[in-house]
Amino acid sequence: MKLFGKKQTSVPVLTAFAAIAKLEKGTTSLADVIAPSSVEVDFNYIRVGDFFYKTFFVIGYPRFVSSNWLSPLIDFDHSMNISMFCYPTASSDVLSDIRRKIAEMEATISSQAEEGKIVDAKVQAALEDALSLQEQLAKGVERFFQFSLYIALFSETLADLEDESKKLTATLSSILLITKTTTLQMEDGFKSTIPIGVDKLYITRNMDTTSLASTFPFTSATLTQDKGIMYGINEQNGSLIIFDRYSLENANEVVLGKSGAGKSYLIKLEALRQFMFGTEVIIIDPEGEYEALARTMGGEYVSFTPSEPVKINPFDLSGLYEEGENELGLKILSLHGLLGIVIGKLDAGEDAILDRALVETYRQKGVTVDPATQKKQPPLMEDLYKVLLGMEDQTAKNLALRLEKFIKGSLSGIFNQQSNFDITNPFTVFSIKALEEELRPIAMHIILDFVWTRVRKSLKKRLLILDEAWYIMKYEDSASFVYGIAKRARKYYLALTTATQDVQDFLSTDYGKAVLSNSSIQMLLKQSPTEIDLITKTFYLSEGEKELLLSSDVGEGLFFAGQSHVVMKVIAAPFEHNIITSNPQELAKQQEQILAETAPQDSPPIDSMDAVEKNPPVPPPNQNLPDVNATSPQTPPPVLNKP
Ligand SMILES: Nc1ncnc2c1ncn2[C@@H]1O[C@H](COP(=O)(O)OP(=O)(O)OP(=O)(O)O)[C@@H](O)[C@H]1O
Ligand SMILES: [Mg+2]
Repeated sequence: MKLFGKKQTSVPVLTAFAAIAKLEKGTTSLADVIAPSSVEVDFNYIRVGDFFYKTFFVIGYPRFVSSNWLSPLIDFDHSMNISMFCYPTASSDVLSDIRRKIAEMEATISSQAEEGKIVDAKVQAALEDALSLQEQLAKGVERFFQFSLYIALFSETLADLEDESKKLTATLSSILLITKTTTLQMEDGFKSTIPIGVDKLYITRNMDTTSLASTFPFTSATLTQDKGIMYGINEQNGSLIIFDRYSLENANEVVLGKSGAGKSYLIKLEALRQFMFGTEVIIIDPEGEYEALARTMGGEYVSFTPSEPVKINPFDLSGLYEEGENELGLKILSLHGLLGIVIGKLDAGEDAILDRALVETYRQKGVTVDPATQKKQPPLMEDLYKVLLGMEDQTAKNLALRLEKFIKGSLSGIFNQQSNFDITNPFTVFSIKALEEELRPIAMHIILDFVWTRVRKSLKKRLLILDEAWYIMKYEDSASFVYGIAKRARKYYLALTTATQDVQDFLSTDYGKAVLSNSSIQMLLKQSPTEIDLITKTFYLSEGEKELLLSSDVGEGLFFAGQSHVVMKVIAAPFEHNIITSNPQELAKQQEQILAETAPQDSPPIDSMDAVEKNPPVPPPNQNLPDVNATSPQTPPPVLNKP
């Protein structure tokens, strides 16, 4: 009865297995999806799907190596898989082997000496190596490993595979690596180089810890993401530096380099490329360098002079209400910063009076900390002046006097009127070149504040560029304002770029350092010898990197993004170069060409031909035809200094 019962239950289990097997046969598993359609194993290669693979193993290593000695292999310009296997070996086993080997070699040497022969130098050298290794192992300074190195080249055609194999062998022999192909073992070779951690070949060489460490391959970083814009070319391995700064924890960038190193060029190129990907670009341009770029991109070029119609009122409020933020308080803080530049450094007493005057100025216009009142028309600089005058206090009167030239003097036209401008163009450049040098920091502060107010009103992907940031970073209050923007920009989808040639000034203030540490991307272009030590200390540069920054060409430098950094060369396409170059020679050429193209081409009337022949007309200087011997205005892209 029992047996019968058992039989009865076993039948459905079997059928269930059969049914599952049948079901599985008709379904597609992951292995089916990723497996190649066919594999063909030949003596000299293995074809997996559409690719031919050839595997090499290393049998000869150089006697001395330095760090990064495998870089010619890692940077070899072809698709390949490299696998390295390290097998730790117990030192005690190795020590007894070494002892035996040492005894053998000593015996050889002494027998040669007894026979009166010259001692073999090779044996002598090997003995010295073995003795030092024995000592290191015995002391525990070094450990012992077996190391194997395999390289699988792959290609779509056999001919290409053969070509590249020759090149690879030649490259490796230049670093004294002797390789062999895994003839008749191509399948094992292939399996040993795919990322499954299986060594089917087991062709090893002894290595101590130091030698093994020097094979560490990740010494040439690549900064290539699958989205973002191209910044330049990685000079170490020729790869493209493609990066999306908005993918980092903050999108800010600091560019440091001496005058003429190529900072503005780099920034313009980035602005152009970011703009093409739909980023709104706002530039504060103290040197008037961005006009051509703005015009070409269909952008708006706003120039600040008393006679220009565009006005900005520094007392503008954003009209926004954010939980936990006192909009008026922040504005007053920013105005403090601005007035610090306008009327000079304030002592504690003056500061307190100014604070009271600012609150009073807003109050007179009905504006208080209550957000509902902040939509009213804001006061003007003039109102502050009047409040100060009316304060019945000598200090307040002095402050009013110091403010006077901005209200009544030649400068009254720019910042003492209600704003009549809004950023509507997705590419807006504010130029303050027409202002006197001493006014530029003031204007920069006001524009920065204006932009910041606008940026917070609507969330958009934006890039704000502050070229020649040293103008404003040298004033503590303005620097603190820039730092405030850098810190909060992330929340508003804003990327802030600050560029400066005055590294010393920038990095010697706490706010400059804070802006730097709040920037995920840092670009170091050519540096001057006086500033290199500070840069080296701040960025923990190696001796080699320091030398590189001292001797780099225009547009060349180090690109730091998050934890990685690479040597970069900024490269623009010819049409981009023509828009962004600030080389006066090239600009003059471009102007000449435009004039030549637009000049009237009228031929003289017939009856005046005689006169023409006697006195051939001298073309006005700026209508000369382009000099055929001169270099073409279509400057070719800079040639890469790639070895
Ligand atoms: N990557 C580059 N390729 C070709 N030319 C470049 C490159 N970078 C800069 N230049 C040229 O070098 C010159 C100086 O560049 P740029 O104006 O960008 O320097 P800068 O660092 O901004 O200097 P400054 O601090 O004086 O403003 C310009 O004529 C520019 O066209
Ligand atoms: Mg510049």
